[in-house]
Amino acid sequence: MDFSGPAVPVRKISESQSEMTELILPNDTNTLGNLLGGRLMHFIDLVGAMAAYRHSRTHVVTASMDHIDFIAPVHVGDLLILKSSLNRAFNTSMEVGVKVWVENTIAGMHRHVASAYLTFVAVDSQGRRVPVPQLAPETEEEKRHYADAGRRRELRQKELERKRAGRPAEAAIKGSVRPGNV
Ligand SMILES: CC(C)(COP(=O)(O)OP(=O)(O)OC[C@H]1O[C@@H](n2cnc3c(N)ncnc32)[C@H](O)[C@@H]1OP(=O)(O)O)[C@@H](O)C(=O)NCCC(=O)NCCS
Repeated sequence: MDFSGPAVPVRKISESQSEMTELILPNDTNTLGNLLGGRLMHFIDLVGAMAAYRHSRTHVVTASMDHIDFIAPVHVGDLLILKSSLNRAFNTSMEVGVKVWVENTIAGMHRHVASAYLTFVAVDSQGRRVPVPQLAPETEEEKRHYADAGRRRELRQKELERKRAGRPAEAAIKGSVRPGNV
């Protein structure tokens, strides 16, 4: 795809950093009163998208969410605190890091619950991919995140190529798709 045109703007990480706080209610939990993993992933997706929107100032779609560990349970009545920050902008995609903590409302204790890396792709109102502003890391930590995101992108691209190369033609898999094929 040809994205030649006017020079893309450059934005700071602080311009798009986002934060979200959720009070965990019974509707968010399983039969033990613990936050559902899928609900947590939904919150992670939302706070990640906020940073991607603020950086790109256009529509975004989630392309991927990397491996995620659920480190500690979150209970009904807890506060969930989610923070997102752009690690790097590429051509049309952006890697966003999300970190999640739980705050016990009575004890006031904070605990790290989960972290994830998400990739969002910027699109216009017709769903066509559009270039994103570049990112200017300033602090040493931001520069380290920027470099790490480049390494993760290489790994993701290799994995995508491997999957695409091994994916049978659409016609061949019709009627024989099994879990594990995808
Ligand atoms: C994400 C999507 C736009 C990528 O489209 P595509 O035609 O496969 O595009 P390409 O392979 O040319 O890649 C386009 C960009 O996306 C990135 N990308 C594509 N698949 C990716 C993946 N699985 N993980 C991370 N990045 C990915 C590429 O690295 C590339 O980035 P760049 O422009 O910054 O170099 C497309 O797969 C899509 O629309 N998916 C559905 C998104 C959606 O609906 N999400 C909500 C959850 S259902």
